[in-house]
Amino acid sequence: METIDKLDAKSPIVEAYRSVRTSIEYSNLDDKLKVILVTSTQQNEGKSTVASNLAISFSKLPNKKILLIDGDLRNPSIHRVFSIGNSDGMMSILKGEKDLKSTINTFNDNLDILTTGVIPPNPDEILVTDKMKKFIQQIKEKYDYIFIDSPPIGIVSDASLLSQLSDGVIFVVSSGEVETDFAKLAKDKLMNVEAKILGAVLNKYESHNDDYGYYYSEYYGARKKRKLFGLSKFKRKTKKHLKVEKA
Ligand SMILES: Nc1ncnc2c1ncn2[C@@H]1O[C@H](COP(=O)(O)OP(=O)(O)OP(=O)(O)O)[C@@H](O)[C@H]1O
Ligand SMILES: [Mg+2]
Repeated sequence: METIDKLDAKSPIVEAYRSVRTSIEYSNLDDKLKVILVTSTQQNEGKSTVASNLAISFSKLPNKKILLIDGDLRNPSIHRVFSIGNSDGMMSILKGEKDLKSTINTFNDNLDILTTGVIPPNPDEILVTDKMKKFIQQIKEKYDYIFIDSPPIGIVSDASLLSQLSDGVIFVVSSGEVETDFAKLAKDKLMNVEAKILGAVLNKYESHNDDYGYYYSEYYGARKKRKLFGLSKFKRKTKKHLKVEKA
């Protein structure tokens, strides 16, 4: 998969991520939003893609240290996105085999990446351990933003557990792919554990405004998020977003 660092800064895709970034920064005026979980209803909606590109986009901000964690202990893929090894990772730290410094990968001056390491047989049990909680607390002191990729919340409970360790959640919705009812149930799961949904990213949305039909991600800010699931007075680009409602 190509990440956005390979694209021109003026590319619409880079611009789309920048606008998501701005929305997140805007909802973080009090600096309390540090750990951001990225999840979606089902597989293949683009969680890992969005988490990776958001982390890259944030790393372009001056003087902000970003960490991207692969929290998908079922189907890790961040190491593949960045073509790095995965023999050590978060699991090595939780098991006490390695420290953070010797485990992280440096992507650029501002972005560090932590892969899963060797996947355990009991992912959901690990996510609720005190060690995991302490680990997140520790890294919070070192980074300005921590993005956590995760498994689909509509399929397994891991993302619900990870949301308890996070300050906010980005909900990826794959345009035309996910059933609306299924997405609503997934959103309810997050609401039930009182996760703070920061917004939804509409991914794989085919733009009709260009000649090439490229895909991009679009962000719905916190105030707009309700409308994604219960459109009533959604004015801006109503038709396009309705497509998601009906999907
Ligand atoms: N905006 C996009 N446009 C085109 N292809 C995309 C887009 N976003 C993701 N993809 C592709 O869709 C596939 C799934 O993406 P990704 O691995 O990010 O999804 P995921 O939700 O993390 O999947 P999983 O549930 O398996 O972890 C990949 O092949 C990726 O390259
Ligand atoms: Mg993934």
